[in-house]
Amino acid sequence: MDVFDAINKRATYRGPYKSESIPQEDLKKIVQAAIEAPSGCNAQSTTFIIVDDAKVMRELSAIMPKGGMDTAPAAIVVIASTEPAYDDVSFYKEDYSAAVQNIYLAATAMGYATCWLDGVLRRDDINKKISSLLNIPDSLLTCVLLPIGIPEKEPVHKEKKKFAERACYNKYSL
Ligand SMILES: Cc1cc2nc3c(=O)[nH]c(=O)nc-3n(C[C@H](O)[C@H](O)[C@H](O)COP(=O)(O)O)c2cc1C
Repeated sequence: MDVFDAINKRATYRGPYKSESIPQEDLKKIVQAAIEAPSGCNAQSTTFIIVDDAKVMRELSAIMPKGGMDTAPAAIVVIASTEPAYDDVSFYKEDYSAAVQNIYLAATAMGYATCWLDGVLRRDDINKKISSLLNIPDSLLTCVLLPIGIPEKEPVHKEKKKFAERACYNKYSL
């Protein structure tokens, strides 16, 4: 699939998923796409846990049952180091966001679906509960959980505002 086809097909999908497991080489390919993402000062502040063990998936889903986690056969956990890349500046949010977008595009191109669970992890210390379950050190921040699998239903690409509402040429005219 061409990159523009993946961009235009990409959609947040909140389940249900088919029960088929995902081959480990496919999960590795998707996470390698995330590793190839840009990062501020090339600090590569983002790390990943691939979860494909059914027991760990059940434990994760008990903490965060939303967004398709209850049926997904696998998930990717995106972790950030918030250490400064230079002076006192950390680009961890930008770094992990670029990585997550690559996960979305790679998953779409390979026929999988996923959901960027992020805001919801910030409530009730859910990200800390995930960190504890997965032995993530206190020095790192659990930022995003992405359930992943073959969608039971066709994901629907959301219509975005028209080009002229969001972009202009040379000087601001929106
Ligand atoms: C920073 C960020 C945080 C998000 N957090 C959540 C979340 O906690 N739960 C959820 O279901 N979707 C979450 N999403 C997905 C958005 O809801 C989704 O991208 C948006 O509705 C647009 O849909 P689309 O991705 O299909 O274009 C998040 C997306 C971003 C970029």
